[in-house]
Amino acid sequence: MTQTSAAPPAWTSRRATGCPFDPPPARSALIGAEPVSRVTLWNGRAAWLVARHADQVALLRDERISADNRRPAYPSVSAASEATRAHNRAFITMDEPEHNEQRRKFTGDFTVRRMEALRPRVGAIIDGLLDAMEKAGPPADLVTSFALPLPSLVICELLGVPYEDHAFFQRASACIVDTRSTVEQALAASTELVSYLGDLVERKVSEPGDDLLSRLATEYLATGRSTKEECANEARLLLVAGHETTANMIALGTCALLQHPAQLAAVRDGDARSVANAVEELLRYLTITHMGRRRVALADIEIGGVTIKAGDAVICANDLANRDPEVFDEPDALRVDREARRHLAFGSGPHQCLGQNLARVELQLAYPALLRRFPRLRLDRPLEEVPFRTDMVVYGVHELPVAW
Ligand code: HEM
Repeated sequence: MTQTSAAPPAWTSRRATGCPFDPPPARSALIGAEPVSRVTLWNGRAAWLVARHADQVALLRDERISADNRRPAYPSVSAASEATRAHNRAFITMDEPEHNEQRRKFTGDFTVRRMEALRPRVGAIIDGLLDAMEKAGPPADLVTSFALPLPSLVICELLGVPYEDHAFFQRASACIVDTRSTVEQALAASTELVSYLGDLVERKVSEPGDDLLSRLATEYLATGRSTKEECANEARLLLVAGHETTANMIALGTCALLQHPAQLAAVRDGDARSVANAVEELLRYLTITHMGRRRVALADIEIGGVTIKAGDAVICANDLANRDPEVFDEPDALRVDREARRHLAFGSGPHQCLGQNLARVELQLAYPALLRRFPRLRLDRPLEEVPFRTDMVVYGVHELPVAW
């Protein structure tokens, strides 16, 4: 990539000023400016930033773009993720045909039909957590009492990971997605988690249960179609992706609704259809996967008169796409009755979120259940004192103190 004398603006997820639900102010300035602009990463390297929705949808489907994080120009988000990128490879950072060969092992596990069938069980888990919150009485931290245990319990059941070990894997998972982790910390967390999951899958060869990792053990590990390492890396991806993301949507979404009482009332009192719509709008408005979809160009690609050169780093800023005025009217407003389904919160193209049907079921049940159980739910601290996750790969809140 050719360098100019003035350094391009920093690509940062920090939100020192402005609304905590909006993309970082420096980034928002890029919407409506050039379709492609240059940014400086944490390590001083440059990357192309693609801002518009239409360009991102086209690019994320383009075969001339690679998700392989071992490529030298890959735009990592931190020193730790840069140093650990060759470890624990799973299909989220593979290109075709390898990506699809691995991903399709799991597509049947996350179909709409399979996820819809989980509704009663997810509902029961929600009721149990809300009962415990009610019994303990206010105040509570919504993250530890509800937002994190819900998706964690659900993904544990689905995968067949013992929930008793949650303190261990939640800590490891948080360390992996924390851009402040040192190289040693991130490597240790990842190695520990992968070794734990590898042993678990291996045990399931002889003691299978009715769960996804048992299927992986019997159909793939036992038959030699996959190695223990591959199974462990896939389990790690599913476990981390399965609870970090949804947990943050529940907590940050609740926080946003508490700031928008009319929207909150619409979710609390809405029917299933309007709640489903509200979930899409919250996904759009909050875009918790705020570090962008990161790629490397494999060939010269032209966007809006600019040529991205083969070998250059590219970031599709899905948080900006979700605020693109060409696609969403008044994009900075939270309007739970709008048609928001075209959002890119789950990405786009071959790597589009495998777990989106599960996330939708959890979110569609979690928000109304929480708001109906505690109609007087409120923040127990001023919004300015809520610790937002500006340094994490997945945005959200570290804690959400609430009372009712
Ligand atoms: C991929 C977001 C929940 C598993 C992705 C991607 C995004 C995303 C943006 C695309 C990555 C890329 O293009 O580089 C979210 C959000 C969620 C959520 C916002 C919750 C609200 C889940 C859940 C699972 C999951 C519950 C459960 C297993 C995955 C996997 C991939 C993925 C395995 C990789 C897909 C591939 O590369 O083919 N997710 N996700 N996600 N997500 Fe999710």
